[in-house]
Amino acid sequence: MADPVADRSHASLPMVGAAGLAPADPVAGAPGHVAIIMDGNGRWAKARRLPRIAGHRAGVEAVRRVVKAAPRLGIGTLTLYAFSSENWRRPPEEVSDLMGLLLQHIRSEIDELDETGVRLGFIGEWRALRADIVAELERARQRTARNSKLNLVVALNYGAHDEMVRAVRRLAAEVGAGQRDASTISAADIEAALDTASFAPVDLIIRSSGEVRLSNFLLWQAAYAELWFTPVLWPDFDEAVLRQATEAFARRERRFGGR
Ligand code: IPE
Ligand code: IPE
Ligand code: MG
Repeated sequence: MADPVADRSHASLPMVGAAGLAPADPVAGAPGHVAIIMDGNGRWAKARRLPRIAGHRAGVEAVRRVVKAAPRLGIGTLTLYAFSSENWRRPPEEVSDLMGLLLQHIRSEIDELDETGVRLGFIGEWRALRADIVAELERARQRTARNSKLNLVVALNYGAHDEMVRAVRRLAAEVGAGQRDASTISAADIEAALDTASFAPVDLIIRSSGEVRLSNFLLWQAAYAELWFTPVLWPDFDEAVLRQATEAFARRERRFGGR
């Protein structure tokens, strides 16, 4: 077992290096692609008698920490579930707070993300968000397109059912247009029609806050991903917790149905 106290000392190493990052300390056998369900902002705020937005703001700080930590641990792709297609069910004020934070975060972080070699990507129906947000996201995507230190994928207005419905519609349209034969559609064809087509396979899905469900996140991609749950609320999530998850993954034996 990793010693959480020792792990925490890593998180507080002095900031050094050209890119302003602490030295890399990769975990042997680290997952290439980690996807995180960032949950628990509301409960974190409630425990402090703060408004929910304070929890979401603290959640943004946790995002900053894990984005810095991921490449240090040897993770190549990090997908973050930021807003689900079902999160529209929340009160309009909270939705608007979340959208405001997203815009603010992308604007304030884009220079540093670009300078540290982060390549930004998005999954979900992000193009259906507010026009000013879409424009900012698109700019960030194009600006960082040639970076390669970390693929940072943000799931925005994302739902796995919605993703699969869109993929099925695309394939069905190609069949209808005579460009594809329905009887030859394969798992690889479906995978290629999903939002994650251009990213490495998901190795590890993490959920914070103690909930043990996927909440419509990466259902197809989760088929043989390893799952790791922690009671830590998202605003308290840091490099030490990510390291713990990464080390737990490295100890797992993946069999993919074989023996
Ligand atoms: C996760 O925190 C953030 C989003 C879903 C956008 P929550 O807001 O779901 O926090 P809890 O689950 O109420 O604690
Ligand atoms: C999942 O969290 C979505 C995100 C983290 C963006 P929720 O808080 O929306 O999930 P449920 O409602 O508890 O399943
Ligand atoms: Mg929640």
